[in-house]
Amino acid sequence: MKYIYIFLLGFIIPLGLAAQEKPAVSAGMNKVKLDFRLDAQGHPEYAVYYDQKPIIKPSRLGVKLLDNTGLDHGFVITGTEKKSIDEQWNPVWGEVKTIRNHYEQVIVHLKQNGQGRLMDIVFRVFEDGVGFRYVFPKQPDLKNFIVTDEVTEFALAGNHKTFWIPGDYDSNEYPYTTSAISEINNQPIVASSDDIAVKTVPDKYAVQTPLMMKTADGLYINIHEAALVNYTSMQLHVDIATYKLTASLVPDALGNKAYMSAPCYTPWRTIIVSNKAADILESKIILNLNDPSKITNTSWIKPMKFVGVWWEMQTGKATWNYANRADTVGADGQLIPNKTHGANTANVKRYIDFAAKNGIQAVLVEGWNYGWEEWFGAWKEYVFDFVKPYPDFDVAAITSYASSKGVKMIMHNETSGSASDYERQMDTAFRFMNKYGYTSVKTGYVGKIIPRGEHHDGEWMVNHYVRAAQKAADYHVMIDAHEPVRPTGLQRTYPNWMASEAGRGNEYNAFGHGNKPEHETIMPFTRFMGGPMDYTPGILKITDYTSLPDKQIHTTLVKQLALYVVLYSPLQMAADLPENYEKYLDAFQFIKDVPVDWDDTKVIEAEPGNYITTARKEKGSENWFIGAITNENNRNASVPLNFLDKKAKYIATIYADAANADWKTNPEAYKINSYLVDANTTLNLKLAKGGGAAVSIKQASSTKGIPIYK
Ligand code: NOJ
Ligand code: CA
Repeated sequence: MKYIYIFLLGFIIPLGLAAQEKPAVSAGMNKVKLDFRLDAQGHPEYAVYYDQKPIIKPSRLGVKLLDNTGLDHGFVITGTEKKSIDEQWNPVWGEVKTIRNHYEQVIVHLKQNGQGRLMDIVFRVFEDGVGFRYVFPKQPDLKNFIVTDEVTEFALAGNHKTFWIPGDYDSNEYPYTTSAISEINNQPIVASSDDIAVKTVPDKYAVQTPLMMKTADGLYINIHEAALVNYTSMQLHVDIATYKLTASLVPDALGNKAYMSAPCYTPWRTIIVSNKAADILESKIILNLNDPSKITNTSWIKPMKFVGVWWEMQTGKATWNYANRADTVGADGQLIPNKTHGANTANVKRYIDFAAKNGIQAVLVEGWNYGWEEWFGAWKEYVFDFVKPYPDFDVAAITSYASSKGVKMIMHNETSGSASDYERQMDTAFRFMNKYGYTSVKTGYVGKIIPRGEHHDGEWMVNHYVRAAQKAADYHVMIDAHEPVRPTGLQRTYPNWMASEAGRGNEYNAFGHGNKPEHETIMPFTRFMGGPMDYTPGILKITDYTSLPDKQIHTTLVKQLALYVVLYSPLQMAADLPENYEKYLDAFQFIKDVPVDWDDTKVIEAEPGNYITTARKEKGSENWFIGAITNENNRNASVPLNFLDKKAKYIATIYADAANADWKTNPEAYKINSYLVDANTTLNLKLAKGGGAAVSIKQASSTKGIPIYK
């Protein structure tokens, strides 16, 4: 057998050859190695190795088209190009100040026998993984085409431990299951998730990305995608016998997947791998594979914390709707108020006062506009009016009151899934925000999507979320999208798209079955890999917060504080009620102090499903903050402070679970102590079952009376 090797010298080498058995192309970066070849029938195949161990065994590549042809076979390689990049860039906001983008790129130019159609596959090999995408060059015989399937496979090398949620076209809000690949079956979890509004699961072997795995010999593997735009999102279909994952694209109303016009390309498929779980959390592959900011003036984009008229509705103390019925009016011809409406002017002012007093920058108000009487479950096209406040919400008075107190207001635009109507109203809605000084908006997509037949994670909606971010940028408005597709790093390109929900947030402790203590130790490895989440942490009243006496959040109070460091978002809510924070003002101090924008991040230790300890350095300051969380087991976290400035002294304020704290029996017990520390100190943090620890470390100006940490 004759083997043909290609020497990659940064220019195109004409080849016109097929049927190689050894890799036609290889690339490597430290421990990560990529091979690419065509098999005897011209099927493109790739494989990925880490430290010489197979991570992805030879796996097929390509797409299928509506005309019953496939760009997945009969190819010859017409040339390859190779280059290395090592550069740095600074995000507008984020977990670190500077990001290194270091990779080796290989472009494989392919030509199909017969019709002569062209397709390129671009691989980027990083020190911690691989990204690849399909590129369809401008060509005479492939212009407008419809993708019906993606052939992309990820043939795993073993029956890995996997952290997964069902691959659902409409929801990312499932609890996680940890199982071997061979045990994946989403049916029981889909059936028991009666707290999820819209569920569309193609089959029992469908799982969502980011998919997190651990191999028997201790390697961590994460599969996701980057830069999802002008395409549909990729979920995975699992073969539980062979451990092969295949791309499963979310369909549109007709069953098609993506509508393409060459020249064009797909999103990147990403494989992140390391022998340390903490490295997965620190990976920047997904951000690096996204385009730089399309917004040139970013001075108006400001990370911030906020409180909101929100948890009181979630827990049933107040209502979003102003009236109980939309079809009944009183003698004055107006809706009949139900007297439980949360978004009334006096109540909103109470939140503004609380924010002003505590240095929280902004207040979110939900339920302020007409439409909430019949907003849910009716699949109606016209539901909300985004510029019409309820009679008891005096928008002008609230704006001027907030501005007199130096507090920003956050708009709420729930669409109830009627994205088509939001598209019509968007300009009007953003003009209204500009008029009343709202600099950010929380959008929402609860319910079945309109245009009917489309899905939350399909191409039409993928482009809708991007259009909303672009439109918001035109009006200098920041976005926090609820129920959108899960993020893929587009916050680099649209840095006003600050956060998304697209995952199971704290709100499931209010209306749903809640989140298990392990939940937040899995989320950073899964949902957060693509970008920030509006998880709504900071619920300090852990029991007796609803009318249901047996309801309880599966957390200690201190763990809620730690989440502000462990779960990154540049828009971060202090989600509890002001009256609950008043009860725990000393603990609330951590939420007041913790930043939402960072110069540096160090994941000290992490194990998905078990624990995470993260230290972060505040943007433009010498202050550090630490968050440590555990699952249902207690834990001692040992944190060497060797990242501190060697010459400086610091005061560390430690917010710890009390010795007898326990998420189930004694969740609100905590203690707060301050100590002198320096770069030689190692903190020994004791986390209760389902608990956490939160630490603020500030350079000391006066150290009198502060004990040295021992
Ligand atoms: C679901 C969102 O996740 C939640 O935050 C919001 O309050 C409701 N929808 C109503 O819009
Ligand atoms: Ca939600």
